[in-house]
Amino acid sequence: MLGRYPLRLDTKPHTRGSRKRAARRPADVGYDRAVASRSASATDFGTSIGEAYATGGAAIELGLGVHEGEVASAARVRVPLRMLNRHGLIAGATGTGKTRTLQVIAEQLSVAGVAVFAADVKGDVSGIALPGSDDGPAKKRARELGIEWVPAGYPVEYLSLGGIGPGVPVRATVSDFGPLLLAKVLGSNQTQEQSLSLVFHYADAKGLPLLDLSDLRALLTFLDSDAGKVELRGIGGLSPATVGVLLRSLVGLEEGGGNDFFGEPQLDIADLLRTAPDGRGVISCLELPAVQDRPKLWSTVLMWIVAELFEQLPEVGDRDKPRIVFFLDEAHLLFDGASKAFVESVTQTVRLIRSKGVGVFFVTQTPKDIPADVLGQLGNRVQHALRAFTPDDAKALRATVRTFPKSDFYDLEELLTQMGTGEAAVTILSESGVPTPVVHTRMRPPHARMGPADDVDGAAKSSPLHVKYATRLDNQSAREMLAARLEQAAPPPPGAPTTSERQKKAAEATGGGADAIGDFLKSSTGRTIQRELVRGLFGLLKKRG
Ligand SMILES: Nc1ncnc2c1ncn2[C@@H]1O[C@H](COP(=O)(O)OP(=O)(O)OP(=O)(O)O)[C@@H](O)[C@H]1O
Ligand SMILES: [Mg+2]
Repeated sequence: MLGRYPLRLDTKPHTRGSRKRAARRPADVGYDRAVASRSASATDFGTSIGEAYATGGAAIELGLGVHEGEVASAARVRVPLRMLNRHGLIAGATGTGKTRTLQVIAEQLSVAGVAVFAADVKGDVSGIALPGSDDGPAKKRARELGIEWVPAGYPVEYLSLGGIGPGVPVRATVSDFGPLLLAKVLGSNQTQEQSLSLVFHYADAKGLPLLDLSDLRALLTFLDSDAGKVELRGIGGLSPATVGVLLRSLVGLEEGGGNDFFGEPQLDIADLLRTAPDGRGVISCLELPAVQDRPKLWSTVLMWIVAELFEQLPEVGDRDKPRIVFFLDEAHLLFDGASKAFVESVTQTVRLIRSKGVGVFFVTQTPKDIPADVLGQLGNRVQHALRAFTPDDAKALRATVRTFPKSDFYDLEELLTQMGTGEAAVTILSESGVPTPVVHTRMRPPHARMGPADDVDGAAKSSPLHVKYATRLDNQSAREMLAARLEQAAPPPPGAPTTSERQKKAAEATGGGADAIGDFLKSSTGRTIQRELVRGLFGLLKKRG
């Protein structure tokens, strides 16, 4: 399979545009000749790639460059650790090695003391906690590359979406999740998305904590009631019909995992940034096999975690290494049916999160799955083989080739269809921020197990995080406050459990009885709460002091 594409002269550029440019610039002919003579020997190939990928600081080793079917030991292909906040893309057809590439990068990040977050869609990342097999494909690959290989396991924390399936439950409050992400999960159209923003704004202004979906349901039901309709008039642009539509669309989410995911205790982002006692970065694996049939929910939750990292972490500028690298698997799901506002928020988050020391890798089949504005910001690219069976495949292939820098060493169309499993066309950002030449790379093998772990449930239950997150809290929130108002109910029992300052204040305020909300809003506490609620990207709640 290897070596079918000989190293060739770069007389056939990949795009029409570049052919035109080549024809107009005679100087390029001299350049081609220089390339031709340089590429004549494997040693030169190795030296040239080795130099292009050389780093002064620490780096993640991806593998070795391949020249005429042979690995060149000097062609070490690596990504500088400090450039990992310039994000990345791992792409390729099914079974070409995307997950193992994720694993190879994650393992080395952990060793470098960098925390990792990986969406484990199929459950086959979970084995990263356990040493790999001594007689499997990893050992064989190491031999081919002439590198030392020892089996190793890594510090892992298994998470789950709201406790569905094994893993420490990850939850978020509806209020924190924000209207834009919620609209994405609900499959809302633009009007509904905007209406949801108004509902959140209303809840913020009135100091109504929306903790779980029952709170949102209570608020929408209230706005749908006679008393609520009066209030509704004060909220410009929110029609009773849309409130009805939103209420109906909640049913699917409630039954489709939303009741488990939304609520408290909410995931504390600091728990993702831990290092093990030996200094290695903890790899948090969000185990998703149990919720595979709810892609809208989990793909949006992944974006929420990225956005939450953005909102919570301070600016650090460019550091020697990132604080955390985030792998978003099946990234196309994030953009399926996404609104313009949603895509803009993703683009902006990816652009700005860099200076917070966060790297984001999108994992998907083809770069075409990623909107151009996002793709343009993914500096580190590991492109595994693509198939070209159908005319549509061929079109996607040509489109992919156009997203790569022009190569002096390869015909990219040929390369992309003929690479073997665990091989990839790589281009990254060098330490000086310049894209490196595309190189056919035979990837390093992971040191840990390439497949599922045996006992994710047991490992999760023995984690200290289990104690913190396993039990769901039911705090005083909008549902109770609205019920009090609607039913003229008695004050809530004193000493209701609360976790946040915001809720404490809200609970105090409802202590007054039926007209509690009105009184509360007039109180100085109410005004404090209103000042505290600020929403950022995606309409996520920003925490103040
Ligand atoms: N770097 C590597 N070293 C050794 N073997 C590898 C490597 N990459 C891939 N392989 C082999 O290829 C198999 C498939 O790889 P992987 O599971 O990463 O594919 P994938 O692209 O994630 O597939 P899918 O799209 O189905 O998720 C692995 O189980 C392993 O045997
Ligand atoms: Mg995979």
